[in-house]
Amino acid sequence: MSLLEVTNLTKSFSTRRDFLGRKAGWTHAVKDVSFTLDAGECLAVVGESGAGKSTVGRMVLRLIEPDTGTVIFDGEDVRAAKPARLRAMRRGMQMIFQDPHSSLDPRMTVGDAVAEPLIVHTDLDKTARAQRARELLDKVGIGTRYLGRYPAELSGGQLQRVAIARALTLEPKMIVCDEPVAALDVSVRAQVLNLLRDLQEELGLAYLFVCHDLALIEVIADRVLVMKSGEVVESGTVAEIYNAPGQDYTRALLDAIPVPIPRAARQS
Ligand SMILES: Nc1ncnc2c1ncn2[C@@H]1O[C@H](COP(=O)(O)OP(=O)(O)O)[C@@H](O)[C@H]1O
Ligand SMILES: [Mg+2]
Repeated sequence: MSLLEVTNLTKSFSTRRDFLGRKAGWTHAVKDVSFTLDAGECLAVVGESGAGKSTVGRMVLRLIEPDTGTVIFDGEDVRAAKPARLRAMRRGMQMIFQDPHSSLDPRMTVGDAVAEPLIVHTDLDKTARAQRARELLDKVGIGTRYLGRYPAELSGGQLQRVAIARALTLEPKMIVCDEPVAALDVSVRAQVLNLLRDLQEELGLAYLFVCHDLALIEVIADRVLVMKSGEVVESGTVAEIYNAPGQDYTRALLDAIPVPIPRAARQS
């Protein structure tokens, strides 16, 4: 059994209302998407903007309610979970968003942001929570001198590291990473990506790694799911997708990579 089993996930958004205020236009954001993710594995979800990648990621965590389909995480039906049970299940599955500026509370210090999940989910006291925050900030390469700082005082790359530390606080089994480096300066993208990869290895994390940039996936992914207009059009290992993209669409995504992938990497 896989850690995550997603079957026939579908979601439409109403985009227009008629003159009586009734929902009249629909965007089929996600159509019949199925996949599995094993413990410790990284599955990249790639595709052009609007392909439905983020909607899939959010439905897995039930931040958006699917119209139909099932999500089984660690043997448990996410969609059937009552609120209290869902809260408990969220210990095991976390999310990192594209923009760390909007995912962190500007009025909360970095140390408090990282420790906060422990208040709800554990009975650790304040000292123990602060200790855990220090360890986590150390782990993501931020260091403890930032504990009392506010998000506005940190760079985008540092903030994303803080967001990663916060996602790790409750020792999840899986993290949905939604374009985690897309909003960062090019100069720090590789560092944050390498951090995510190192953490994955060290902690045995599974990633559902949403990205539109295929250049990233050979660094981090094991398998790839290619999405177009809400549907999965292709899937396979990273090597399979690189060496023999089965779809013109996938080939076009690969051709859009600004720096050519070295031949050696293509054949590995
Ligand atoms: N809350 C929403 N309301 C209406 N339409 C939405 C909403 N969220 C996403 N969409 C639409 O669903 C489609 C897929 O969006 P999204 O999952 O964000 O794609 P991606 O992450 O691949 O860029 C897009 O057409 C988008 O405009
Ligand atoms: Mg998106």
